[in-house]
Amino acid sequence: MTIAHELAHQLAAARPEAACVRVGIDLCPVASIAESLAHFGERFGQRLFTPQELADAHAVCGDAALHQRLAARFAAKEAVIKALDLPEAGVGWRDIELRRAADGRPTLALHGRAAEAAARLGVRDWAVSISHEAAHACAVVVALTGAPAPTPSDSDPTTP
Ligand SMILES: CC(C)(COP(=O)(O)OP(=O)(O)OC[C@H]1O[C@@H](n2cnc3c(N)ncnc32)[C@H](O)[C@@H]1OP(=O)(O)O)[C@@H](O)C(=O)NCCC(=O)NCCS
Repeated sequence: MTIAHELAHQLAAARPEAACVRVGIDLCPVASIAESLAHFGERFGQRLFTPQELADAHAVCGDAALHQRLAARFAAKEAVIKALDLPEAGVGWRDIELRRAADGRPTLALHGRAAEAAARLGVRDWAVSISHEAAHACAVVVALTGAPAPTPSDSDPTTP
């Protein structure tokens, strides 16, 4: 068990209502999205983004605004991957979806392997914020968790 794991368990045992947080951040150059779209066409968008994400991004006027919105959504996906520590978990891009509430606020919806990973880590809630301008888009996500579920190595006394 790692020290962070052990601390999380101790905290949860002492104060079951106590929460732990996991944070992810990402910065995405808008030009990289524009170039990929120009090179790969619609297939690129459809591989990375859900139909709702594409609809939200297309609800603005002009390619520049579209590329900014897509870059922000891509940054949100990368930020979730960091928060959940999933770089090699084979999570599909569309398993992490940035939604837009009626008032414009962003929210997250996870599907498939991303949802499974979040459940394993005890994620109870998410906060997400994005920002974009001509050159860059960024996203910050915070996952609120309880104690992580025990892993097989937790019961192995030889694991440091
Ligand atoms: C909501 C607001 C903060 C967005 O800031 P911005 O600099 O225009 O744009 P950013 O690129 O930083 O952020 C855009 C993202 O903010 C998010 N957003 C929109 N409304 C939001 C809200 N109410 N709460 C949180 N996030 C919001 C969206 O995710 C949006 O991305 P999207 O359009 O791709 O879906 C801004 O439009 C606003 O309303 N500012 C208040 C201005 C004001 O009242 N000034 C007077 C008092 S100082």
